[in-house]
Formats: sequence, structure tokens, C-alpha cells
Amino acid sequence: MSIPINKSITWVGKVDWELRHFHGEEYSTHRGSSYNSYLVRDEKTVLIETVWTPFAKEFVHNLQQEIDLKKIDYIIANHGESDHSGALPELMRLIPDTPIFCTANAVKSLKGHYHQEWNFRVVKNGDRLKIGSKELIFIEAPMLHWPDSMFCYLTGDNTLFSSDAFGQHYATERLFNDLVDQAELFQECIKYYANILTPFSTLVDRKIKEFVGLNLPLDMICTSHGVVWRDNPLQIVTKYLEWAASYQENQITIIYDSMWDGTRKMAEAIARGFSGVDSEVVIKIFNASRADKNDIITEVFKSKMILAGSPTVNRGILSAMAAILEEIRGLGFKNKKAAAFGAYGWSGESVKVLTERLKEGGFTIVNDGLKLLWNPDGQGLDDCIAFGAELAHVSKLP
Ligand code: FEO
Repeated sequence: MSIPINKSITWVGKVDWELRHFHGEEYSTHRGSSYNSYLVRDEKTVLIETVWTPFAKEFVHNLQQEIDLKKIDYIIANHGESDHSGALPELMRLIPDTPIFCTANAVKSLKGHYHQEWNFRVVKNGDRLKIGSKELIFIEAPMLHWPDSMFCYLTGDNTLFSSDAFGQHYATERLFNDLVDQAELFQECIKYYANILTPFSTLVDRKIKEFVGLNLPLDMICTSHGVVWRDNPLQIVTKYLEWAASYQENQITIIYDSMWDGTRKMAEAIARGFSGVDSEVVIKIFNASRADKNDIITEVFKSKMILAGSPTVNRGILSAMAAILEEIRGLGFKNKKAAAFGAYGWSGESVKVLTERLKEGGFTIVNDGLKLLWNPDGQGLDDCIAFGAELAHVSKLP
């Protein structure tokens, strides 16, 4: 299947409706995904990106319905990760001499993946490739989100091919941003940013401002996953600038795990105490061993404060909490407050351990936390409510 985008650009990618996990099991894809590949036709014909390895044969077969492969003059590899380069071995078997334009780092990642001496043409920031009446301008974008990442911009069509940036894991038969459910679309956009791009926010901000400074007209953004932004493409650019600026909403997220419900009861009572003082704040509560970790991280991204709860087990914390806090630590959230809580039976180290993990994750710890012996009784629940109320006041401080 191919989809014409305009007179010169044709989508030749793959929609993956089945996908439920990406990056191994690291990223949940409730709405599937797509691997976008584009043919650009001018005097020269250019293929931008391919698709993930399992779809390599299908991709090449479909591409052959669209064009005689020998008529592809250039291939652009904006990024070496397998979800976009995975069909290169199958394709290059048939057109082995076709030049592949990519960054120096992409030569390393592509050789590292496929161990082939293809006809690489290394490009640098600002390099241009004339393809007829139009040109491709290459824009290196290191760490958005791999060292090899780059964008390319097509003059004449005023189109940015942005690799993973501005994309979403979102399977749709309606390729364009104005044709899909907007709530679904933006949920997948923010989830993608929160889980993948958060650590690189400074670079996101810098690269967008650098691109804006080029004063290139922008009519369309063709990402490597999800929709093509043809209706007001600047809307997602503006969102990225907001998200890159230590983003937060008036929300707190409570994440806990529980053995015999004590810590769960604490979580819910703390939430009651919090909302008793601040009726406008959005409070979301997740059991880390039952909820999807990427959905939790998306909510953490939106929060001004998070609370982490675990009972004490073997002088530490439950493993689901250890796992989610490790994930959160790696993402390097900024400008967020945190506190810990948990029930215990005898030694009671969990609150201290949780507090340490939150501190390592870059959170501002607002107090020593709350620990309760055994299952909370009426007094214990009152203590939780008071703890939540205190946190509500603290959350409003600068
Ligand atoms: Fe969609 Fe970083 O690959």
C-alpha cells in the first residue's frame, strides 16, 4: 500500500496494528505503531527511511509496486535504529550501489547493526543535496534521540522529515493529523515525549530554536512514526517547546505497591487529605505492579509532585517500585517535588529507601515521609490525611 501525500511525496511505510510492545518490552504501544517511509520524486528519486525488520520483505514488495527499484537514486537514513533501517539489507541486496546519505554516527550504527559496506555518503549539518528543482537540507539532530539522528528538509514542498521527533506510536489508516482522533493523537504524542525524549529536553529546545532560526517555511512534518502533520504543523513544535521546559500541570501522581493493602489504604487516604486542601489538583493513583509503566511515566511527566509508596520487605522495597523508580531516575525529570510513604511490620526501611531513590532521580524531597506500623487503623488513616494535607500546602510553594 502507498499513500500519495502531495505531487512529489508518497508514503510507502508500514502500519503495524499488532504491535503492543516496542524496544523489546520497554515501551507499551496500546494503539500499535507505524514505520513511515517516504518516496520523494523530482528529477531524482529519493527514498527516506525504510521499515522495521519483520516487515522488510513486505516493504520491498510494496515498494516494487510503486517504483522500479533501480530508479531510486538516493536513500536517506535519518536514523539507524532498526525500526527504520530494518529493511535496508533486503533493499540493498537488490540495489547494492545506491548511495545512502546519513550522519557519520549513522554509518557506525548501520554498520554495527548490519555489518555491510554500503555506499555511505556522510552528511553534516546544513549540507544540501539537489534532487532537481528542489533540494534536501540535512539537519543533524544528535541525541534526538540517538547520536546518529538527523532531520532533512525538502525545499519547494516546505516539508521537514523529522525522524522520531514529533512522532507517536499510533496505528491509523488515516495518515494525516487532521483526520484522526485528536485526544488519542496527543495522548500518544505526550507519552512518546515523556518516555523517550525527556532526558534530551535541553537538546530538543536548542534544536527547535535552531531550526526556527533558519526561517524555512514549514507546511508539513513527515515523522517516522504515526501521523503526517499537515494541518498547522507548528502545533506539535509548540507542544515540544512546552514539554521541553520542565513541563508540569496541576497534577500529582501517587505510585505504590502493596502486600496486604496497608500501603494502598495509605495512598488513598493521602489523596483524600491532599484534595481536601486543594480541590483543583488532579490526583492519579497507580499500583506499580498492575498499571502500565509507560502510562505511569506519562503521568509523572505531567505532575508537579509524585508520591512513592511501598511496604518494607527484606529491609527494602517491593520490586515493582524499584523497577519504576529506576525507570524514572533514568529519565532525569526536572522541577518536580516528591515524598515517600509505606506500611511496615517490624524493621520499616522502605520510606528511607524510597526517599533515596527519589532523590537520585532528581526530585526535590519535601519531607521525611510517612511510615505506619501494620495496617493503618483509624488514627493511621487520619495521619495519612494530615500528611496529604501538608503535602498539598507544600506543593504550592515555589
Ligand atoms: Fe523510531 Fe529511534 O526509532
